Amino acid sequence: MRVLVPAERIRERVREMGAEIGRDYPEGVLLVAILKGACFFLADLARAIAGPVRIDFIGISSYGRGKTSSGEVKLAKDLDTAIDGVDVLVVEDIVDSGITLNYLMEVLRQRRPRSLRIAALLDKPERRVRPVEVAYVGFQIPDEFVVGYGLDYAEQYRNLPDIRVLEGAAK
Ligand code: IMP
Ligand code: MG
Repeated sequence: MRVLVPAERIRERVREMGAEIGRDYPEGVLLVAILKGACFFLADLARAIAGPVRIDFIGISSYGRGKTSSGEVKLAKDLDTAIDGVDVLVVEDIVDSGITLNYLMEVLRQRRPRSLRIAALLDKPERRVRPVEVAYVGFQIPDEFVVGYGLDYAEQYRNLPDIRVLEGAAK
């Protein structure tokens, strides 16, 4: 599989993002990672932020085992903590159609956080079908299916240190 973003570039970019986020949230921020893909990004991003950080997790399912969104989204695991009055930064591995984040942001907004923004490691802007405003983007990538650094295909390849293009399998 072709390497699209080598581990070293991921490391550098995540450090930059963490520094920027730390400057933007001097009083601290709650990082909400979307299971499971964003866990690797969350772990590195959290350590790159200088100020106070708390973490929580939310589970969303929108994809089956293949590569194409079903268009259906459901909340599979909720947050452990209340977020009213809290500065929340949703941490996601990749924004593709935007269906997942468009739905999740609506759900979280109803809980009245003090602020609510998104940090995504990867963005495939060409694929967007629902609007999503991403405050922090690691890399914009072309319309290719990628795996590694948390991203899977049928639950495989999450542990690859680089981001690679999965070619061949039908979309
Ligand atoms: P969206 O709702 O279409 O934006 O899809 C977002 C979710 O789809 C991400 O959190 C990923 O889990 C998954 N996804 C989208 N594109 C890719 C990809 O290229 N590789 C692996 N997973 C992907
Ligand atoms: Mg995901």
